[in-house]
Amino acid sequence: MLDKIKGYIEETASFKAESLEQLENFRIHWLGRKGVLKDLFEDFKTVPKELKRDVGQAVNELRSHLEATIVKQKEAFDGQGQESLNLEDYTRPSGFELGSKHPVSVVRREILDIFSQIGFKVAEGPEIEDDWHVFSGLNFPPEHPARDMQDTFFIEKDPDILLRTHTSSVQVRTMTDSEPPMRIVMPGRVFRNEAISARSHCIFHQIEGLYIDEDVSFADLKQTLMYFAKEFFGKSKIRLRPSYFPFTEPSAEMDVYWGLNSETDYRITKGTGWLEILGCGMVDPNVLEASNIDSKKYSGFAFGMGIERIAMLRYQIDDIRLLFENDVRFLQQFKSI
Ligand code: PHE
Repeated sequence: MLDKIKGYIEETASFKAESLEQLENFRIHWLGRKGVLKDLFEDFKTVPKELKRDVGQAVNELRSHLEATIVKQKEAFDGQGQESLNLEDYTRPSGFELGSKHPVSVVRREILDIFSQIGFKVAEGPEIEDDWHVFSGLNFPPEHPARDMQDTFFIEKDPDILLRTHTSSVQVRTMTDSEPPMRIVMPGRVFRNEAISARSHCIFHQIEGLYIDEDVSFADLKQTLMYFAKEFFGKSKIRLRPSYFPFTEPSAEMDVYWGLNSETDYRITKGTGWLEILGCGMVDPNVLEASNIDSKKYSGFAFGMGIERIAMLRYQIDDIRLLFENDVRFLQQFKSI
């Protein structure tokens, strides 16, 4: 038996696999469940006691030699893609899934990139805020319905500590902390006391923009938004509908002309061809003054949009809850973006 084992070592010493498949066959032949080594271990049982030590050593030597041959040759094949996984199957678990970026992160990044091209810097602020930064500093009158418990999550009352309902709070922080000119985009998570449905969620994300300088006009706002629509949606036809926000005057809502070429277009634009994208307006002089900015010298515009809403339009997602559940079957669809 000792000679047989030595013979095996010599026989396999010059083995050189030409493919992973050949190497795998080699492994199965020698070390597999019905392989040569298995037989040797069976035979070992019948080896006379006095020879057991030597034979045992020889079998172990053969096994180490075979294992080393396989490992060494496998390394040579590594880096050749899929094939190398086959051999790994029996040494460690394989099939790790590649992750994907969340659609909200993708859209957030894209929007920030578009505005950074024209000089907007990113500014961020806390999610837990006080009344001043979310409401009073933004010209909300004391009886405004947004201050209602039904609309806002309060953490404490008198003085009011609450979860911010919009990223406009970062406007107030930036205006108080720095001097014009300022040109910032403010991404962040916001909270509203709303029932969760396919259309709305109590947590979502916004990106807000603010530009303050001398002689900023409504035409500047319009040009900036047209540029954004062109870059993000590939469409340059927009319209501004009059609207109302306590902190901007005049205020508007911007729609992008999407077109009515397919059934989906009809569905997502509710048959109008227009998509409602964001709220905007010229910063109310009261808001500038509240943050100690001279409203005679400076003017500015602001705009704000919901990231989930934009992601839903872009990827034709019809239930906002899908963006929060993190179901891998949903997320896997975004692997390529
Ligand atoms: N803050 C507003 C909202 O949450 C959006 C907005 C921002 C409107 C800036 C005008 C200007 O709905």
